[in-house]
Amino acid sequence: MSILSNKHILLGVTGSIAGYKAADLASKLAQEGAQVDVILTDAGEKFVSPLTFQSVTGRRAYRDQDLWGNEAHILHVSFGKTADLLVIAPCTANTIAKLANGLADNLLTVTALAAECPLVIAPAMDGGMYYHPTTQGNLAKLKKGGAIIVGPADGHLASGLTGKGRMVEPAEILGHIRIVLGKNGKLAGKKVVVTAGGTQEALDPVRVITNHSSGKQGYAIAQAALDAGAEVCLITAPTALTPPVGARVIKVNSAMEMLNAVLSESADVLIMAAAAADFIPKKTAADKMKKRDGIPQVTLTAAPDILETVANSQLSGRRFHIVVGFAAESRDLLENASEKLISKKMDMIVANDISASDAGFAVDTNRVIFLFANGTKEILPLLSKTEVAEKIIEHTSRLLE
Ligand code: CTP
Repeated sequence: MSILSNKHILLGVTGSIAGYKAADLASKLAQEGAQVDVILTDAGEKFVSPLTFQSVTGRRAYRDQDLWGNEAHILHVSFGKTADLLVIAPCTANTIAKLANGLADNLLTVTALAAECPLVIAPAMDGGMYYHPTTQGNLAKLKKGGAIIVGPADGHLASGLTGKGRMVEPAEILGHIRIVLGKNGKLAGKKVVVTAGGTQEALDPVRVITNHSSGKQGYAIAQAALDAGAEVCLITAPTALTPPVGARVIKVNSAMEMLNAVLSESADVLIMAAAAADFIPKKTAADKMKKRDGIPQVTLTAAPDILETVANSQLSGRRFHIVVGFAAESRDLLENASEKLISKKMDMIVANDISASDAGFAVDTNRVIFLFANGTKEILPLLSKTEVAEKIIEHTSRLLE
């Protein structure tokens, strides 16, 4: 279940051209299962219509004139009491000034003043307005009061200028919302290291040996750990994915670099979801191998086994309290996985039948079996990689107990 499932999120939309991106944010929140109530200011409504938001949230979008309607006396108070989070995106310099000074002259600001939930603000304005000492002072005041300010980002501004002032992208705002909601989760105060992606082993400056791993499962685990309130370090081989907001990212290429990165960390949990190479070129050519020199003979050698090295290093003191690994198998799944569980001294292994077309590399679903060091196992049905990640994190926090 997503951290956003059944959460009541208020989305304030103020007068900025970035309002069109707020519709995307509302849609993303709704897709994650949140109940999204949108409150537009009059200026916000000039850029995007309430109908746009209604269409993506499936709920009525509130307008400033609702402050003066029949439900007026309860609307802002009930919003303020029931909301899990208020996010204002885009938030203009004008609304920031009102919030910083306790002004409550429209439905959004009156709700913000009545609200007891966390407040996330994504400023959007021209660079000059953002850098104005008054705006900076207002933002500092809001931050001091506990508001989370996300952005603004650098880039093209509506004025035609380039600079700081653009609202950050909805996906990034969503990431910050998840962190706020997950703050007191099961892994609060715990540190989790996750590896992801397929390593690349250089043959020469141009060519690499790699594998089909997309990194999707590892990235989903990093997100699930963040949702559970953990501090997350994501050690990632090259992938096409954007790391989850809040993760500290260490980028590596080869299995050797991944090993060094893992050994530079210590944490409550290590989850080795990466497809690290088993075989690597014995030599990497300094220059590009040329066709005119004939077909090269590549000699392979063993890559360092990261989990095995961690297991050996743990003999003299624990670097990671709980170690979770994966077994990617095309046959004899359970036999091979339980052999790896024991030989690599893991607490839990996620056995993955990569011969199934709906599981394993690149696809969004996975069919896995969890095996535990105490001899027990859990067979899971076909799940999304996000759901598998949530289950892994659930078990991890249980193992930590
Ligand atoms: N692993 C590792 N270091 C490597 C290769 C794999 O730590 N050089 C980790 C993987 O991240 C995974 C576990 O070991 O968590 C099992 O990986 P897998 O590829 O299934 O098995 P191997 O141990 O490499 O054995 P084989 O390829 O022979 O099945």
